[in-house]
Amino acid sequence: MKQVNIALLGMGRIGKIHFNNITQHFSTARITAVSDLQYDIALFQQQHNDIFFSNDAQEVIGRSDVDAVLICTPTGSHADLIESAIKDGKHVFCEKPMDLSLSRTASLSQMAEDAGVKLMLGFNRRFDPDFLAARKAVREGKIGEVQIVKITSRDPGLPSVDYIKSSGGLFMDMAIHDFDMARYIMDKEVVEVFAKGLVLIDKEVGEAGDVDTALTTLIFADGTYAVIDNSRKAIYGYDQRLEIFGTGGMIQVENNLHNRNVLYDSNGIHYSLPLDFFMDRYTKSYLKEMELFIDALTNDKPMPAGGKDGLEATLIAFAAKLSMKTGRAVKLSEVAEAVKNESATA
Ligand SMILES: NC(=O)c1ccc[n+]([C@@H]2O[C@H](COP(=O)([O-])OP(=O)(O)OC[C@H]3O[C@@H](n4cnc5c(N)ncnc54)[C@H](O)[C@@H]3O)[C@@H](O)[C@H]2O)c1
Repeated sequence: MKQVNIALLGMGRIGKIHFNNITQHFSTARITAVSDLQYDIALFQQQHNDIFFSNDAQEVIGRSDVDAVLICTPTGSHADLIESAIKDGKHVFCEKPMDLSLSRTASLSQMAEDAGVKLMLGFNRRFDPDFLAARKAVREGKIGEVQIVKITSRDPGLPSVDYIKSSGGLFMDMAIHDFDMARYIMDKEVVEVFAKGLVLIDKEVGEAGDVDTALTTLIFADGTYAVIDNSRKAIYGYDQRLEIFGTGGMIQVENNLHNRNVLYDSNGIHYSLPLDFFMDRYTKSYLKEMELFIDALTNDKPMPAGGKDGLEATLIAFAAKLSMKTGRAVKLSEVAEAVKNESATA
């Protein structure tokens, strides 16, 4: 494939990032069609008269000038759209998670494989330059045998309660990125999960059936750990840090700040705040993930974060949710059994 024709579904917060990246940065890909439920068609076509637009995603997926579909719609709509795209022989990039049901997630991953369709999950943090460099150092043995990974992942503020209700909750919506990052850094599979969660920021979160603050311990097959702390609200901005501790040393990835200046005065030593949110903090990673998606299609390479990665992260999120509910550690093998059970929905 010399040039990839892409349909983008969902022009919300994340969809707009991908739209701008593809239209501005890649000569081997172009957007031929867009679908969004709320967009004003006339306005969109005034700005992009060469791009087909429809409020109906199915109409867009079915077009002959579409090779690949980017799914950036709310989580609850992902599975049906992935399925339609696969059935139509279109390659898929989907934002996390694929679905809130484990069995559907597993079957979509299998369906893509059986159909010979490439499927990539939007685990963009893998492609952040700092995290990539940390992973490379681990693989090169720079810190010896890794024993503990610590991930701090705190949002600057709560999303709307409507968003929370349809998101699958903190573990499935937010921590899922951190679960993927832990697997990616360690290059090992998680076997057991212990998680606790609280409502400390807004009682409406609890009324919506979710938590806003959580601590998760992941245990890998060789007994080593990852510890993840999540909050939906850090008053100083988007807090995204990583620490990897091994027999030969430690790697710290600090926050990306608004600037690197350090102000010294009689009150102390002051740094600027972290970048505001994912749109600013992960700019480079969104660009890189799209570059890799397009490269995998144009040069027939494997996807860098595929269906199996989506399924593993979803299994961990599901186990975390079950652990929080039951107050006990949950083995992934126990949760994997639930894949066979249609009722296993987070
Ligand atoms: N990778 C990341 O860093 C990241 C960041 C934010 C969100 N996400 C994920 O991306 C997805 C979207 O999140 P968002 O924050 O951009 O949401 P959003 O609400 O800002 O945007 C969703 C858009 O999809 C449109 N839409 C809804 N149903 C549709 C349908 N059936 N067909 C076409 N358009 C439809 C809506 O009109 C809206 O414009 C979620 O699954 C979320 O988990 C990922």
